[in-house]
Amino acid sequence: MNKRITAATLAKAKAANEKTVWLTAYDTSSAQLAEAADVDVLLVGDSLGMVSLGFDSTIPVTLDHMIHHTAAVVRGRQTAWVVCDLPFGSYQQSPEQAFETSVRVLQETGCDAVKLEGGVPMAETIRFLSDRGIAIVAHIGLTPQSVKKFGSYKTRGTNPDEYQAILNDAKAITEAGAVAVVLECIPEKLAEAITATIAIPTVGIGAGAACDSQVLVWHDLLGLSEKNPSFAPAYIHLREQIITAISRWRDDVRLGKFPKT
Ligand code: KIV
Repeated sequence: MNKRITAATLAKAKAANEKTVWLTAYDTSSAQLAEAADVDVLLVGDSLGMVSLGFDSTIPVTLDHMIHHTAAVVRGRQTAWVVCDLPFGSYQQSPEQAFETSVRVLQETGCDAVKLEGGVPMAETIRFLSDRGIAIVAHIGLTPQSVKKFGSYKTRGTNPDEYQAILNDAKAITEAGAVAVVLECIPEKLAEAITATIAIPTVGIGAGAACDSQVLVWHDLLGLSEKNPSFAPAYIHLREQIITAISRWRDDVRLGKFPKT
């Protein structure tokens, strides 16, 4: 069996200029399949709410949802590093609230790290958690939990002020002790500048090829989504294949051909 991936493995990979591969997972079977494909990091994203629970944003996702699904992913992992998204409202109030939430997540799921959205405004919280031994992945650029504030899921950092603010976010979360940072939907030039500037691994999604690592949402990669973002082409179209298989079985049942006698 390969050695378990740790935060140190990811840091070494950045130093060696080796890309690591992150993929979202939401249950034991997706974790087992990603492990079989030698994925390095399983991210239990709060995209769970949209791809699996039928919500129209990540806002309604609760801590109990995240714990339930992260524990299932941990049961399916062998060597991958497992990261759990802290859901909206479970960490923004204070560093103490974030600490209590993270302790619950780590104790009740067995995962390795927590991820939270925000840059400069979350730096104090990241420092508080990091000083207490918690591995934190930060998430900057497009932060879906703030969709009500921004009103859209559009690319961030396209004007000079926002560009500089996101660069400042990256520096602040690094200084505060984050072990990696997700860069979501920012211009490639900005992701490249951040990747060259900060010491921790950058994990891109819709942020171009210069990042240290890439992450995709399970449903987008496998063609299970009704519509994919432009930066995430499906590598297989499972949605059509699943519908075809179910329809064939449906016909066999209706025609009395299943089960075979
Ligand atoms: O919730 C999620 O799946 C994420 C990824 C898109 C990075 O945060």
